[in-house]
Amino acid sequence: MIAIRSADDMESMRASGKIAARVRDEVAARLQPGVTTLELSEFAGELMKRLGAESAFLGYHGYPGIICASVNEAVVHGIPDRRPIEIGDIVSIDVGVRHRGFIGDTATTVMVGVSDPDVMRLVAATKQALAAGIGAARAGNRVSDISHAIESVAVQAGFGVVRDFVGHGVGQSMHEEPQVPNFGPPGRGPLLKAGMTIAIEPMLNMGTAAVNVLDDGWTVVTQDRKPAAHFEHTVAIRDGEAEILTV
Ligand code: MF3
Ligand code: CO
Ligand code: CO
Repeated sequence: MIAIRSADDMESMRASGKIAARVRDEVAARLQPGVTTLELSEFAGELMKRLGAESAFLGYHGYPGIICASVNEAVVHGIPDRRPIEIGDIVSIDVGVRHRGFIGDTATTVMVGVSDPDVMRLVAATKQALAAGIGAARAGNRVSDISHAIESVAVQAGFGVVRDFVGHGVGQSMHEEPQVPNFGPPGRGPLLKAGMTIAIEPMLNMGTAAVNVLDDGWTVVTQDRKPAAHFEHTVAIRDGEAEILTV
C-alpha cells in the first residue's frame, strides 16, 4: 500500500522538506577548494540540530555519515571524508532529515570551478531530467511516466542512466513504496494519487550506466570512473502539478 498523507502529516512533510532543502543549500554554498566533505557533514549536523531535525541517514542500515557527499566518479552514497575538494570537482550533496517524524530527502550536484563543457552538460541534463520527472508526477499518471520522462532527457543528451538505484516513496521511513526507476516505458506501475509523497532522483553518468560499490560498502561509483551527477526532490502528488517539498 502506498500511503496517502493526511493534511497534518503533509504539514510535517512540508516542514521536514524545508529543513532538508535549507541544509542542502547551505552545504552547497560552502563547497569550495580546500574544504573537506567531512567538515561540511559536521556543519550539516549542527545545522540540522539547530533547526530541530536529525539526520535520516546516520545509522540507516549502518550508514556512517550525516549526509552523503559523492565526488566525481562517485554517483551516490559517498561517505564524507578528509580529502580536500579541488577545482574541477563535481559533488553530489544528498541530505535526508527527520523532523516531527517525517523525512525530507533531497540532493543537488555542485560544480567547483568546473570548466569542462561535457561536465557542465551532464549536470544540466540531470537537473533537466529531474524537472521532467517532476512534470510527469501528477495524479492520474503512473509511476513509470516519471521514469520515462527522466530517461528521455538522458537519452536525448547522450548520457547513461543508472538503473541499480531508484527514487522511492518517502514519509515516516526514508524508502517506502513505490520504487521510482529512472528508466522504462511509460504507463506502467502504480497509479499516482494526490497526497502520495515520493523522492524523484535521477542519476546520470557521463559514460556507461554501469556502477560498482566500493570496498567501504557504500560509495557507488561509475564502472568506467567517469563523472556522474545526481539531483533529488521530495514531492507531493497533486491533481495538477506536483508540490515540491524540498524547496
Ligand atoms: N538519500 C539516499 C536516497 O536518496 C539514501 C541514502 S542511504 C544512506 O535514497 F544510507 F546513505 F543514508
Ligand atoms: Co537522497
Ligand atoms: Co532518495
